Amino acid sequence: MYRTHTCGELRLSDINKEVTLAGWVAIGRNLGGLTFVDLRDRYGITQLVFDMDDNAELCERARRLGREFVIQASGTVRERTSKNADRDTGAVEIRVTEFKVLNAAKTPPFTIQDDTDGGDDLRMKYRYLDLRRNAVQRNLLFRSNLAIETRKYMSAQGFVEVETPNLIKSTPEGARDFVVPSRMNKGQFYALPQSPQTFKQILMVAGFDKYFQIVKCFRDEDLRADRQPEFTQIDCEMSFIHQEDILNTFEGLTKYLFQEALGITLGDFPRMTYDEAMLRYGSDKPDLRFGMEFVELTHLAKGKGFPVFDSAESVIAICAPGCAEYTRKQLDELTEWMKRPQIGAKGLIYVRYEADGNVKSSVDKFYSPDDLKMWLDQCGAKPGDILFLLSGEDEKTRKQLCELRLEMGSRLGLRRPEDFKPLWVVDFPLLEWDEDEQRFFAMHHPFTSPKPDDIVKMESDDRKVLKGIRADAYDLVLNGVEIGGGSIRIHDRDLQSRNFKLLGFTAEEAEAQFGFLLGAFEYGAPPHGGIAFGFDRLNAVMNGANSIRDFIAFPKNNQGRDMMIDAPDSIKLKQLEELGIRVVTE
Ligand code: AMO
Repeated sequence: MYRTHTCGELRLSDINKEVTLAGWVAIGRNLGGLTFVDLRDRYGITQLVFDMDDNAELCERARRLGREFVIQASGTVRERTSKNADRDTGAVEIRVTEFKVLNAAKTPPFTIQDDTDGGDDLRMKYRYLDLRRNAVQRNLLFRSNLAIETRKYMSAQGFVEVETPNLIKSTPEGARDFVVPSRMNKGQFYALPQSPQTFKQILMVAGFDKYFQIVKCFRDEDLRADRQPEFTQIDCEMSFIHQEDILNTFEGLTKYLFQEALGITLGDFPRMTYDEAMLRYGSDKPDLRFGMEFVELTHLAKGKGFPVFDSAESVIAICAPGCAEYTRKQLDELTEWMKRPQIGAKGLIYVRYEADGNVKSSVDKFYSPDDLKMWLDQCGAKPGDILFLLSGEDEKTRKQLCELRLEMGSRLGLRRPEDFKPLWVVDFPLLEWDEDEQRFFAMHHPFTSPKPDDIVKMESDDRKVLKGIRADAYDLVLNGVEIGGGSIRIHDRDLQSRNFKLLGFTAEEAEAQFGFLLGAFEYGAPPHGGIAFGFDRLNAVMNGANSIRDFIAFPKNNQGRDMMIDAPDSIKLKQLEELGIRVVTE
């Protein structure tokens, strides 16, 4: 037997027991005649003590133990004289009578502690050492528990877990595909699934009624803190349901997970249409942990001789509470921040409502104090507040102001990680116009159903009318993060064909890409719909973390590389030949 207990298990009630522990040497300390070793495993840390007076030879050997050596130690549990209240095992220690080195270790390249001295790249290269750290282990244990609870909930609701294939067919919609060459079919490629979308719809045609899967998805897109090339979804589909049924089921899942994993009771989730979210927050995933809503000032600001506003489609403001004392330097710095290419604002106008009631702005030349007072009133500003105004083309201005709102929310400490504000955003547009390609794309995906009342608009040639078609599509947003998205699907072949046409597919292209699905729809497709949650994102947001990497055992870096195994990598010429791939070098 390697151990009688784990390193997190022993308490005062175990005093005088003879025990054997196994684990890694976290740290050793020599204090005169005593040597202390902290022994660590997944469950905790237990202090071992070696006494020179008991056994000088044993104590000498213990002094030679290096960090991260794997050892097995036996001895007696005794009460510590100076207890460590921060540790579950902090009241006891093991007086060691014998120990064995199971494996020596090289000195690790960074310290394995909560606050490690290892940079990102180093930690990723030695991920197995990073994964020994408490903080990272805690995240993965959280994730494991969340997956188990998800399965419990879905199963109790009558959902069946079905695995769908990973080697599928490339489709041009959505993100770029990762492709896999086929040896047996030279010159042909599989694609890794961006999601099991078409398969889960086919499972509905097959009569499975309620499907779910915790599933890996693959997308070759630019990476950010909340995006990985391979990530995990809680993917679901249901038959004979309306949007309401899906929202209720998944609101239920979210509440259940918060209760089980965090002990937090969430109230009913508010809902907001896409149009309203854009109008009030300039975003389809508004962070509702704080206010600072957009206020339209176009009608008040135009026509007073300020050319920037006069030529603008929209003039929109937010009121930052308590920021009237921002110095010139702070305002300049914020203006520069807004002008960065990532945001691209041309400038930033401010109106200070000083504590004594005076009003000062960067546009005093064009507007009287009464004009400015009207803006302040419209925004509900109080003395001590400041207004920030942006102007220009409506959509662009809203996006830029959204960035400023989030930044001010962060600077003012209003985006507290321990607050949770869920929101359903509903009635997304069906189509999104792409200026570069001069064509419509599906805002969610090509199988999303238009709202029944809007189907007639699909016949229109007017781009504005087409842009106004609403879909039965919805997102779950939590603290400004898109946790999940889904839709009611088109289950009628004719309507699906019409949608493909709007998306610029010829009948032949649609048949070549999605013939299998269109074919399946001819054999009795039930009305159906579904949703997928980003499982990595859900884990991160529930823990108030910004990066999903902290919740993935072996994540990729921003260049899409796995630093530990050093992938992607070139392959042997022989492998390429087998696959029928010719490498052309410049
Ligand atoms: P969608 O594309 O909106 O919908 O994806 C669902 C959710 O998956 C998460 N997500 C990601 N997480 C990490 N890294 C990524 N690269 C990444 N991309 C997406 C997000 C997102 O909300 N098949 C549809 C669902 C449906 O209609 O049922 C789909 O995949 O949290």
